[in-house]
Amino acid sequence: MARVWESVTILIACFVLVQCNANDTCSLTMFGNDTGAYLACTAQVALQANWFPSPIAGLFSYLVWNGFDGFWQNGAVLEPMVSFMEYANHSRYVSVVRNSWRPLYSLLEAYGPYPSFDDMCWYGLSYVRIYEVLGYEEFLATALDIYNWVWQTGWDFSGHCGGGFFFDDSRLSKPTITNVQMFQLGAKLYRIYKKDDIWNKTIEVYNFIMNNSIINTTSYLVSDSTTWTCQGNGNYGPTYSSGVLMGALVELYKQTNVSSYIDLAVKLADATILNHTDNVTGIFREYCDPQCDDDAKMFKGIFVRNLRYLIDALPEGDSTKAGYKIWLKHNAMGIIKYDMCDKSPISLCNITFKDGPPYFNVSGPVFSPDWIGPVTYGAPMQQACVLDLFVASINAGTRCTGDYCSFDPPYPPPQPLTCESHPCPPDEPCCEYSPYTTYTCCESTQKCQNGICV
Ligand SMILES: *[C@@H]1O[C@H](CO)[C@@H](O)[C@H](O)[C@H]1NC(C)=O
Ligand SMILES: *[C@@H]1O[C@H](CO)[C@@H](O)[C@H](O)[C@H]1NC(C)=O
Ligand SMILES: *[C@@H]1O[C@H](CO)[C@@H](O)[C@H](O)[C@H]1NC(C)=O
Ligand SMILES: *[C@@H]1O[C@H](CO)[C@@H](O)[C@H](O)[C@H]1NC(C)=O
Ligand SMILES: *[C@@H]1O[C@H](CO)[C@@H](O)[C@H](O)[C@H]1NC(C)=O
Ligand SMILES: *[C@@H]1O[C@H](CO)[C@@H](O)[C@H](O)[C@H]1NC(C)=O
Ligand SMILES: *[C@@H]1O[C@H](CO)[C@@H](O)[C@H](O)[C@H]1NC(C)=O
Ligand SMILES: *[C@@H]1O[C@H](CO)[C@@H](O)[C@H](O)[C@H]1NC(C)=O
Ligand SMILES: *[C@@H]1O[C@H](CO)[C@@H](O)[C@H](O)[C@H]1NC(C)=O
Ligand SMILES: *[C@@H]1O[C@H](CO)[C@@H](O)[C@H](O)[C@H]1NC(C)=O
Ligand SMILES: *[C@@H]1O[C@H](CO)[C@@H](O)[C@H](O)[C@H]1NC(C)=O
Repeated sequence: MARVWESVTILIACFVLVQCNANDTCSLTMFGNDTGAYLACTAQVALQANWFPSPIAGLFSYLVWNGFDGFWQNGAVLEPMVSFMEYANHSRYVSVVRNSWRPLYSLLEAYGPYPSFDDMCWYGLSYVRIYEVLGYEEFLATALDIYNWVWQTGWDFSGHCGGGFFFDDSRLSKPTITNVQMFQLGAKLYRIYKKDDIWNKTIEVYNFIMNNSIINTTSYLVSDSTTWTCQGNGNYGPTYSSGVLMGALVELYKQTNVSSYIDLAVKLADATILNHTDNVTGIFREYCDPQCDDDAKMFKGIFVRNLRYLIDALPEGDSTKAGYKIWLKHNAMGIIKYDMCDKSPISLCNITFKDGPPYFNVSGPVFSPDWIGPVTYGAPMQQACVLDLFVASINAGTRCTGDYCSFDPPYPPPQPLTCESHPCPPDEPCCEYSPYTTYTCCESTQKCQNGICV
């Protein structure tokens, strides 16, 4: 199969050192001139400044950033934040990461009455990654709690189709994403805990994935769900399904040295890159671009974060590894060329907020959802997605030097809020759980009845 980067004009020409209208806490030189690290730094400063909630909205009470559309992104964004620390050798915003810890019970409550299992798994995956990089035991313990909770609550113990995880408590569908997340989470937890039962469960999930034709073995595209007749549904849209599956296979490979796992991950990566790369610009696009909903705006980022895990597991000197790295850099440069708003002052860019104005002054650059442009508006989903790509494109061995490597500005202290504080956007009903003094914001299409969004 011809690789994508052979068939498009690579944007290496524009791989010059772009100086963004960056916050002065980021510079190319602090990262030894690594462009990916520098771009990630500027994107992260803007994410923190623009969409960190005002004390009124209260990240610490509900985990909501100022404009993420849902609960899950708050979990999923932590993984690139902490991978950035590892790849670029710094501890920027470490307090934000550390303060993101919640026990299982609080996470369940934040998205009551019953979170979908995939949403909980984003926290599990980010928490175990935080443990890997920073060694915080409480994150590991909660990742295991999440894993056990999803097993007990979400697995199909009837044995139909060999089990599998349901989407949510209505137990109506078994989507790919939940199953590949639990495959990856189990594989990571096994590496850390070395418990037989975690290994057995991981293999059970793997068997479910392989026995339900989730992977099309002609095209190596990944179906986004399964059918009641134990088949992939043939909808090959979302890129994050193959991304997380690749990440899981890489984990298994690292622990077993069985090359078929990493060979399969390479096939999945090639297929998704080929199928989702715009044939004019060579830039990666989600199936729904430019009209993705707020959930899908983060999918591409989750694919590339896992592509980076695959790159890291491939041997030095491997041409596939080199090709993926070029493809990531090409996409990073494409984003600068087609998709960035970096006006001075940055307030001239169209930046949207959901839960009121930000606490800090706005910062840039900001990015739009579709990586081939046009520039439309900045919001945290697309900003987090771009952060994932910049982080994935950081060169191995990047070192950070200087005071800003530990930049960690103070944030407002936690505020326990209730509905009386009017914490939700105007169109989203606030819903309190009795007898707990906590709340959730319902979707704008929902109403609150007896503490439940319906
Ligand atoms: C950069 O961001 C920090 C914290 O967000 C802020 O204190 C500083 O004033 C900003 N600098 C510029 C030039 O915007
Ligand atoms: C980074 O680039 C500057 C300017 O080109 C150069 O002076 C410096 O030596 C470079 N630093 C590293 C670590 O390569
Ligand atoms: C950066 O790398 C140096 C050298 O390996 C290491 O000693 C240091 O702990 C690292 N710092 C961070 C914040 O990762
Ligand atoms: C794991 O599976 C093996 C092989 O099927 C079995 O012998 C073993 O008892 C299982 N271990 C646990 C803890 O379930
Ligand atoms: C598929 O299911 C069969 C039992 O029905 C099992 O023996 C096999 O290991 C499963 N997994 C794979 C990857 O085929
Ligand atoms: C798998 O992909 C091939 C090649 O694109 C296609 O012809 C086939 O219909 C797909 N199979 C299923 C079950 O969707
Ligand atoms: C995998 O291979 C590496 C390098 O050959 C070796 O260091 C490691 O111990 C092996 N791991 C397993 C689980 O076999
Ligand atoms: C992506 O795959 C789908 C399903 O096989 C196919 O219909 C579509 O034409 C492919 N698109 C590209 C650009 O390869
Ligand atoms: C690029 O993709 C478009 C839409 O999928 C298709 O119509 C066109 O023929 C493709 N061009 C080339 C050169 O492959
Ligand atoms: C925002 O910018 C103004 C004008 O530069 C400055 O006075 C103010 O302190 C800044 N606010 C914050 C929270 O950084
Ligand atoms: C800014 O973005 C919003 C989408 O959040 C859009 O509705 C609005 O039209 C945009 N405004 C301008 C001036 O482009």
